[in-house]
Amino acid sequence: MAHTTEPADTTDTADTADATETAETAARGGTVSLADLEARAAARGAASGYGHDALIVCDRLVRVYSTDGIEVQALQGLDLLVERGELMALVGASGSGKSTLLNILTGLDVPTAGSASVAGCDLLNMDAATRLRYRREIVGFVWQQTARNLLPFLTAHQNVMLPMQLRGGGPGGRRARKSRADELLDILDLAHCRDLRPAQLSGGEQQRTAIAVALANGPDVVFADEPTGELDSSTAEQVFAAFRRVNDELGTTVVIVTHDATVAEEVRRTVAIRDGRTASEVLRRTEVDEHGRESVVAQEYATIDRAGRLQLPRDFTEPLGIKERVLLELEEDHIQIHPDRA
Ligand SMILES: Nc1ncnc2c1ncn2[C@@H]1O[C@H](COP(=O)(O)OP(=O)(O)OP(=O)(O)O)[C@@H](O)[C@H]1O
Ligand SMILES: [Mg+2]
Repeated sequence: MAHTTEPADTTDTADTADATETAETAARGGTVSLADLEARAAARGAASGYGHDALIVCDRLVRVYSTDGIEVQALQGLDLLVERGELMALVGASGSGKSTLLNILTGLDVPTAGSASVAGCDLLNMDAATRLRYRREIVGFVWQQTARNLLPFLTAHQNVMLPMQLRGGGPGGRRARKSRADELLDILDLAHCRDLRPAQLSGGEQQRTAIAVALANGPDVVFADEPTGELDSSTAEQVFAAFRRVNDELGTTVVIVTHDATVAEEVRRTVAIRDGRTASEVLRRTEVDEHGRESVVAQEYATIDRAGRLQLPRDFTEPLGIKERVLLELEEDHIQIHPDRA
């Protein structure tokens, strides 16, 4: 009933073909019949397309940079799904590909291979006019460098007005735009900063103004690349609180990219990127016990890519001496992974 795989990488296990074969092997000799497994897969809606109802879909995304004949594979077949209304973070070491991914999702860069779509827009096939509209209306972004987010000679209110003016048209004209800018400044606790220029604002106020600017045209999703990288921890906490409020009150999907793993405490889902691929994720949920006390439970999951590959954490493989291959055993409701003792 056991089945041995020989992965290309040291700790990657099982591709789809192997997994199917394992299931069949188990079905022949074990307690689970193939018909059972097929029925379960059908019940789970296996026929529907990958990420058909997700807001952001990255499918085997590849980005290769070539400079002076040297190739850098910044993204190596990255899969990611983000549902509408999520507040999530992408974390990873320096150089893992976070900014590369964000540049693609904000329409600044085009992937080498794979596919990516946001709110139904195919990011590989957009002409220049569609790309401009996408960047103005579908997505908003907040960068780490405050200077990149705001124009220094405009007040906070004028900065928030600017994307709406660039877009032009829109319902209600100038008065509606003005009151929307005030509304956004209010939501972000910035009413007192309305007529101040960026240089007169604190770092946290500047970043919160940047969030208001990103929201000006009511985007489906706001992306932020290290938005708290230049802030101390208590100011950073205020900026995270601002993202949470925007997510709660406006329902805007928020994706925050950072190398700071403590961000996991600020969001509901954290996806870790390693070597240009998603490797694991942490989900946080609030549980209420029988006495009505609330506690936050965080659970870490390994992610399985589209080809069925799974990366085993080194903390698990090293103590067991797992190196090139493992034995897999399919049980009724789980899979066992054993070190190869042969
Ligand atoms: N324009 C470019 N030309 C060549 N290589 C690049 C370019 N941009 C990024 N890279 C390389 O791609 C890889 C991923 O870079 P990326 O900037 O996406 O990492 P990151 O996860 O954002 O890191 P950090 O946390 O330091 O911001 C790195 O090896 C980087 O050197
Ligand atoms: Mg980066």
